[in-house]
Amino acid sequence: MPATVEIVPSVLPADHSRLGEEALALEKAGVDRIQWDVMDGNFVPNLTFGPDVIAAVRPHVSVPFEAHLMVNNPDELLPRYVEAGCEWLLIHVESTVHLHRTLTRVAECGGRAAVALNPSTPAEAIRNVLDLVDMVLVMTVNPGFGGQAYIASMEPKVAQVATMIAATGRHIDLQVDGGINSSTVAGAAAAGANILVAGSALYKDPEGLEHAVADLRERAEAAYQAPTAA
Ligand code: DX5
Repeated sequence: MPATVEIVPSVLPADHSRLGEEALALEKAGVDRIQWDVMDGNFVPNLTFGPDVIAAVRPHVSVPFEAHLMVNNPDELLPRYVEAGCEWLLIHVESTVHLHRTLTRVAECGGRAAVALNPSTPAEAIRNVLDLVDMVLVMTVNPGFGGQAYIASMEPKVAQVATMIAATGRHIDLQVDGGINSSTVAGAAAAGANILVAGSALYKDPEGLEHAVADLRERAEAAYQAPTAA
């Protein structure tokens, strides 16, 4: 099944005093799902959304949610994020000693498992867990904050992960997150990413969210190169 290009907003730059309305605005703007950047102040130097905040927003929109768990020891809280209404849980390789067990636990809790790589972590780190996930996230910023510059040197790693995915013969989405905007989205898509996460680029567009989402989608679709097995 050919991969579809999807545009996924990070709500980190949204107005946190109106998250229900902000989620509705994103849904109306045509996003494919919403990513919640969950940060614990330890794995990354920032603190954001707990499961109760996500659960409060859940009934306001129908678009799927995913939780990007930038937290140490994610096993403790991961069931809460599934209960809060997140379909995908993105687990960082660097956040748990027993990654295989944690990803297995995501499925046991009823979630869809995804694995995330920080910029300095090699693609090889996910080779032995690809059978447990239906999405891989390659970070193109060092996690913790929105509005950072895209790390273009990650594109060869995106391509390497795309090749590893193709070799499995399974459909596994390839997500890129960090610094995605109208200037960088084509490079990420051409390298093999079909799920593009954007935060500040969406909220900075003078023509509004709908234009920003449509523009990123159009640029990504024009540039997307499906991965080929090695
Ligand atoms: C960074 C977050 C990213 C970030 C994206 O830790 O994981 O999702 O919010 O924001 P932009 O698109 O502004 O880089």
